[in-house]
Amino acid sequence: MTLRAPKGTDDILPPISATWRRLLRAWSAWTERYGYDLIITPLFEAVEVFSRGVGEFNELVEKQMYTFNDKGGRALALRPEGTASVVRSYLQAGAAGVWKVAYEGPMFRYERPQAGRRRQFHQLGVEYLGTDSPLADAEVIELGYRYLTDVKVPGLVVLVNSIGDRACRPAYLDALRSYLREHEAVLCEDSRRRMETNPMRVLDCKVCAPKLHDAPVPTDYLCDECERHFTSVKEQLDRLGVPYRPAPRLVRGLDYYTRTAFEYVATDLDAAQNAVGGGGRYDGLAETLGGKPVPGVGLALGLDRIVLAGAEPDGPELDVFVATATTERVRDVLTIVSQLRQEGWRADFDPDGRSLKSQFKQAARRNSRMVVILGDDLDTVTVRNMSTGEQRDVPTGEVTQWL
Ligand code: HAM
Repeated sequence: MTLRAPKGTDDILPPISATWRRLLRAWSAWTERYGYDLIITPLFEAVEVFSRGVGEFNELVEKQMYTFNDKGGRALALRPEGTASVVRSYLQAGAAGVWKVAYEGPMFRYERPQAGRRRQFHQLGVEYLGTDSPLADAEVIELGYRYLTDVKVPGLVVLVNSIGDRACRPAYLDALRSYLREHEAVLCEDSRRRMETNPMRVLDCKVCAPKLHDAPVPTDYLCDECERHFTSVKEQLDRLGVPYRPAPRLVRGLDYYTRTAFEYVATDLDAAQNAVGGGGRYDGLAETLGGKPVPGVGLALGLDRIVLAGAEPDGPELDVFVATATTERVRDVLTIVSQLRQEGWRADFDPDGRSLKSQFKQAARRNSRMVVILGDDLDTVTVRNMSTGEQRDVPTGEVTQWL
């Protein structure tokens, strides 16, 4: 019997892995441009980081976490998301003031697998800690928008909402609870239970939400400070030229959010998994984890879904493919490829001496910008631009100038 990867997981293989690599590279470039340092946290954490951070009465924690006891009897969980770990890390490091950090890596959720809903999936994220300024919210939302636009996710829409804070949330939850009690008959079993413990989660229950279109929305209950904060975030987005849609019913699936909540939707995908990313503000999370108050805002994008949505990040896989049809010159090919590589070009060749036609096919498949062809004449090579078809003979020593 051949062994297979576990259910809900994927091997990311060529040629799709070339798209992944470009997406990761672009992520690294965009986050550097916006001033985010790299952070790497463990793939597993104490269960508490998530049960306290994400919320005990939350579907992610109740049903979707991979938890286990290690040989020392510690209760651990494979991380289902990155934010709680980053805040745990900020507190543990004894950090103070602003922290801007970016991460990427696998997350684990025991989901019912389907396209775009995997048990291991890859997130790109940033967290901006230590400030409650609406400018930070706007920057984070803008960064996600610029990145997704740069890698050409089709049909992109940015949804923005505010879900209030500790001051105004209780009044909203009371209103929501009374509404839900009146509509209890149409609720699924989980929602009936969560209606009392965690009523906002009922609004993102896929089964119940469509039946609750006249439920009260958080923006009708915002206190003055939350209202001002939200207005300021929207004003900034307008100034930055980030198009967005107010989404009063957007509450997000994790319990740590306060005030700003947002999502990036790829409208061409199926509604069940068309959120290519999301995030928001979480000013109470650090305290929930037992630390001092540290405001923060962040986002995470789902790389698997970005690929599924048909993103087309720029950049050929190879700069140059070196080919030859002349058996006497096969030996020279690797020497030239090596020189090119040392000068910084992405270069490759066919070691098996196949026909020139087959080598051109390989170059095209690898998306190579240029092909260099070694012929009988030792002093010149032919350089072909693969996108224009333009071709010329150049002195062997000047190849790199021509490239
Ligand atoms: P989230 O909405 O749970 O937020 O996940 C962010 C993105 O990860 C989703 O929009 C989706 O693209 C992707 N994703 C989630 N689950 C799966 C899955 N099972 N398969 C494939 N892709 C998936 C968070 O995780 C928050 N930590 C975001 C955040 C950062 N908020 C503040 N800072």
